[in-house]
Amino acid sequence: AGTLGDAAAEKGRYFGTAVAAHHLGEADYTGTLDTEFSSVTPENEMKWDALEPSRNTFTYGNADRIVAHAEARGMQVRGHTLVWHSQLPSWVGSLPAADLRSAMNNHITQVMTHWKGKIAAWDVVNEAFQDGGSGARRSSPFQDKLGDGFIEEAFRTARAADPAAKLCYNDYNTDGVNAKSNAVYAMVKDFKQRGVPIDCVGLQSHFNAQSPVPSDYQANIQRFADLGVDVQITELDIEGSGSAQATSYSNVTKACLAVTRCTGITVWGVTDKYSWRSSGTPLLFDGSYQKKPAYAAVLTAL
Ligand code: XIL
Repeated sequence: AGTLGDAAAEKGRYFGTAVAAHHLGEADYTGTLDTEFSSVTPENEMKWDALEPSRNTFTYGNADRIVAHAEARGMQVRGHTLVWHSQLPSWVGSLPAADLRSAMNNHITQVMTHWKGKIAAWDVVNEAFQDGGSGARRSSPFQDKLGDGFIEEAFRTARAADPAAKLCYNDYNTDGVNAKSNAVYAMVKDFKQRGVPIDCVGLQSHFNAQSPVPSDYQANIQRFADLGVDVQITELDIEGSGSAQATSYSNVTKACLAVTRCTGITVWGVTDKYSWRSSGTPLLFDGSYQKKPAYAAVLTAL
């Protein structure tokens, strides 16, 4: 197949990208998006600060535009993200525990109900674990006031709100086998054993020279899959250029395809022009929407 989306579909997978609503009016941007990709993730438009800037006042417009764009073209949508310490409006952090609990559950319920039946998978909780060797939870209003149980509660609330959506836990620096991914692994194993609803684990997969594609990437994907959850590569970008970058992208693609339950790959942007890595060139299309060697490597690997 001649496009990323079509080639992935032949392998029973999707190939997606993060999308920003304010670029949808740019012809080259939407042209590349619509030609190549079969799934979209709103880059910022479904975060708490965008959707509920003040308590119980919801602003869905920008995210609605992305969902409508995707729906009209038969693309899937990944919802990103319901409960996260970042891009969280300050009013949330100011609430006492009982209020915070009801605000969290209300946010999940309102947002998931708004797009009920339209979102293939939600990142229910994002980045709840610390970096480094401790395997501990990250400090956040949710962790600090509600304790470890906030993640379980968020997933149970999410399942009730939209039973058709796959519910994912998403994080970074969990791409290889390490203390942080071990902690996520233990949580997912516990959830599966106790019947807490979880369907998927998202590996963000932001790579650079300091944090390259781990040699045990496939093994890590496989061990999560063996717990009975799908794995999705959710925010892939790899700093660099030329053949080195292409090889890394190829390795990521091959690792996912080698695991039956690795159901799709999302790159974190259409073009280097708008990457969140402001000075970097971590994506598949350059700033002029030309296909890079990394693009060809992914298409060959698919
Ligand atoms: C980033 C966006 O790409 C930026 O535009 C924004 O300023 C900050 O957030 N992990 C995540 C994503 O889960 O939501 C982040 O996206 C990148 C890191």
